[in-house]
Formats: sequence, C-alpha cells, structure tokens
Amino acid sequence: MSGRLELALEVAREAGGLQRRRFDEPRTIETKSSPIDLVTDVDRACDELIRKRILARFPEDGLLTEEQTEHPGRSDWRWVVDPLDGTTNYAHGFPHFAVSIAAEFEGETRVGVIFDPLRDELFSAELGGGAARNGRPIRVSDTGELQRCLLGTGFAYDVHSSEDDNLAHFRRFMKRVQAVRRAGSAALDLAYVACGRYDGFWELNLHPWDVAAGLLLVREAGGRTSDFDGGPVPSSGRRVLASNGRVHAAMLEVISA
Ligand code: IPD
Ligand code: CA
Ligand code: CA
Repeated sequence: MSGRLELALEVAREAGGLQRRRFDEPRTIETKSSPIDLVTDVDRACDELIRKRILARFPEDGLLTEEQTEHPGRSDWRWVVDPLDGTTNYAHGFPHFAVSIAAEFEGETRVGVIFDPLRDELFSAELGGGAARNGRPIRVSDTGELQRCLLGTGFAYDVHSSEDDNLAHFRRFMKRVQAVRRAGSAALDLAYVACGRYDGFWELNLHPWDVAAGLLLVREAGGRTSDFDGGPVPSSGRRVLASNGRVHAAMLEVISA
C-alpha cells in the first residue's frame, strides 16, 4: 500500500470519527453561495484537521479542500478533499454523509478514499489496484437493462435559480428505470455504484472534491465514468455520469434525449 493511501485511510477515519461523535450535539450552521448551501462547524473542523494531517506528512503537496482556499504545492501531487459530503443531511441530523479524500499525481487521480462513519464503511481505491470496502474487493453490478436499474442523483445548490437544474433528466430517468434515489452525498452515491448498490449515477454542477475519490472507485470496481457526451469527466465535475458500464450507453441516451 502506498504512503498516500495509508494516510488517506487514517485521516478519513479520524475526520469521520469526529463527525460521528458530534452528530448528536448542537451545531453552528451558516450559509455560503445560496440560502440552501450550508456549512457547519463540523465541516470546518474536519477541513482543518485533514489539511493539518496531510501537510504534516507531505508538506510539499498541493491541497484543494472545500472549505478553504487552495494550497499550492511544490510537488506533482495534489490532494482533493471534501471534508464532509452530505452537509445538508448532517445539519438536519439525517444519518447519511461521508469524508472524501483523493490524491492526484500530475492531474491523474491515484488514490481515492470515502468513509461513512455511521455505517463504518471505508471505501478505497488505488489506480490499477482495484477497489475495496473495509479491505474486501468490490465490483459494480451486472444489471444490463435500464428498467431494472436503481440510480442515484442529486441537485446543486443553485437549483432554485438555475435553468440547468437536473429536473428534466430526473423526470426522464424516473419514467425509464426501477427507481431513483436522492440520498444527499455524491461521494457515497459513487461509492454505491462501485459496490453495486446503485447501477448508475448522474449529476450536474458538482465540484472536484465531490467526485475525485468516487470516480476512481467506480473505475477500479470495473465501472465506467464519463461526461454527458461519453467523453472523459472534466476535473471540474460539472457533468458526471458513472455506471456499471453495461447500462452506460442507455443512460447517455436518456440524458441526451
Ligand atoms: C453536496 C452533496 C449532494 C450533491 C450536491 C453537493 P456537500 O455536497 O454531495 O449530494 O447533490 O451537489 O454539493 O455540500 O454536502 O459537500
Ligand atoms: Ca460535497
Ligand atoms: Ca462538503
């Protein structure tokens, strides 16, 4: 196991532990880009903790985390971190959220870790090394027909004001698949594609920290990831489609209908 994977696993567990301990305590909630874009004191505390741990061990690396400005590095490595994915859930006491930590080398994701502290599920992947949950290999589902699919999706924080709001895609998929879930954590959505709970996932207007670890997990678990035209997902995470591979073409068709 590489040193960066080892560190990502350790730090994800540490931040997740803090989230679990403070889950039932009162929290401070503020808004960011819009009245529905929340941040809690626990998001900020986890961001700070993860940054400190990573820079203590790899002081030359760059660091992009959701709650602070980017730290430019002097090595070819950059960490991409969502300290708490599922903040709206966390703020409401809805038990579904995770820590997401990825490490890129020259822009390519090499390490991805997602930790769900309430279920104690630690998802991990290393480029070329497969994907695992709590150390055991995982694979995507083998569902081949859209009508048997369980899909995940989500809505960005500009959903009240933007025309690009995912509602048309949502409607089209609802009419074609078995069911669609909107559970509130894009990182866990991707981890669930990787371990076969979901057959596919799509979302618009995500950020690099929402998807960096999860996309690697899906690919390493045998799935496929793309933008909405079938090309590579832009690192911005603007348009993300992830699937077990077998239903990818059918999902692209629904999206472009
Ligand atoms: C959000 C969650 C949600 C997704 C949003 C994300 P946050 O991240 O992943 O599922 O629909 O687009 O911004 O704010 O909880 O870290
Ligand atoms: Ca997020
Ligand atoms: Ca977050």
